[in-house]
Amino acid sequence: MSKYILSIDQGTTSSRAVLFTKDAQVYTAAQQEFQQYFPENGWVEHNPDHIWQTVISSAQKALADKQVKAEDIIAIGIANQRETTLVWNKTTGKPIYNAIVWQDRRSSEYCKSLRDAGHSESVNDKTGLLLDPYFSATKIRWILDNVTGAKEQAAAGELAFGTVDTYLLWQLTNGKVHKTDATNASRTLLFNIHKQCWDEELLCLFDIPASMLPEVMDSAADFGVTSSELFGGEIPISGIAGDQQAALIGQACFEEGMAKSTYGTGCFLMLNTGDKALKSNNRLLTTIAYRLNGKPTYAIEGSIFMAGATMQWIVEGLKLLEHAGESEALVKGVPLDHGVFLVPSFTGLGAPYWDANARGAILGLTRDSGISTIVAAALQSVGYQTKDLQKAMEGDGLRPSILRVDGGMANNNWAMAFLANILGASVERPTLTETTSLGVAYLAGLQSGVYESTAQLATMWRCDRRFEPTMSSDERNDLYAKWLHCIAQVTLANN
Ligand code: G3P
Repeated sequence: MSKYILSIDQGTTSSRAVLFTKDAQVYTAAQQEFQQYFPENGWVEHNPDHIWQTVISSAQKALADKQVKAEDIIAIGIANQRETTLVWNKTTGKPIYNAIVWQDRRSSEYCKSLRDAGHSESVNDKTGLLLDPYFSATKIRWILDNVTGAKEQAAAGELAFGTVDTYLLWQLTNGKVHKTDATNASRTLLFNIHKQCWDEELLCLFDIPASMLPEVMDSAADFGVTSSELFGGEIPISGIAGDQQAALIGQACFEEGMAKSTYGTGCFLMLNTGDKALKSNNRLLTTIAYRLNGKPTYAIEGSIFMAGATMQWIVEGLKLLEHAGESEALVKGVPLDHGVFLVPSFTGLGAPYWDANARGAILGLTRDSGISTIVAAALQSVGYQTKDLQKAMEGDGLRPSILRVDGGMANNNWAMAFLANILGASVERPTLTETTSLGVAYLAGLQSGVYESTAQLATMWRCDRRFEPTMSSDERNDLYAKWLHCIAQVTLANN
């Protein structure tokens, strides 16, 4: 009898495969990092083959480590870095360009021209998104405009577009399946989140042929089966979600008003708004949290581009630490009001500022600022940015009833204690922080009958630690006012 669910979590800097037991415990996991390419200022690319090879070798390793066979696997779930854009030839399966990563800013001028032409409102009405290079459509447009012959091939129906889930599904099924799920579709700028279909007017606006687009499915659905040579037998692929939505599901935020914040490469705060697609007046995104049995559940999302990636820069760029995990011990004695602020707008600022031109800065340095102060400022920048999102949500009349945290940085107690303090709200960390992988294991498990309902999944969530605010509101307001002052300086300096 099959015993495990295999989750694939294809993230921005690494690919991970996790085998879960039916009672949602991690049985084994394997992970591989891959190279980032920065061909020009503000550009970020991945080699599609690296994405695929790291996924398949992690998955094969996870199985081999415990001598698990294809027939032991009930189903596969896929979570993925969202928005990242791939275009490939339908016959050869070969990508015609590198994957253009969600962080890439190359289409900012194009986005500006669309905003200047007055398209912002109608695009926001239909998609819940903003005209920002973050999303897929303007990246597709760039590929069609810049790769020789691409426009003609696209017009002839020879090219396929996909976010990373779609590309992996194509590879896993040996080119048999061209599908995505509603959460991933909702990040493309081409999907009408109210009508639940690709939007003809948007396809026309971005000049993208409908023949390039995958079929949009529920998040728990029969997506196809793996090609048998990959794992020595066919395995059904039964769940797909963008990684942030997957984390929301893994955190069991199924009730309206529940929210989670994931600290991976970036930080993504999502608040479940139930069956209502609420429109933000504060430049937050409206997105699909998940779609089950044809019924979409919506969320409001604040997206920050640099969280763990800031720590990666501290480790790899500045070489201040050997490993991000050392940061907690290093900053322990640092007072919270040390006066140094790191604004990590290395690739612009996301929500609620959406300033593609902003670049990073460290402000407030004095002669006694040392490594520990800069590392503390880096960790605090994540708290301050989450506060920006909280403020924007409050402006929209939304206050999370619960904030659940996950992702690598959620393990840093100092950073999470600061987060609770600067938010003035309690923050909950689950015992199982593999929430992204868990979320798609849940989806695959729902589809294959391992789990009955989201209500059952909600009972499986366990709290590891709850962080309560201890800071006075005067101190909180003072620190946050200084942060906003730094943001203003950074935005002014680069525009
Ligand atoms: O929207 C981008 C997001 O999906 C990337 O997630 O975990 O790779 O930082 P992550």
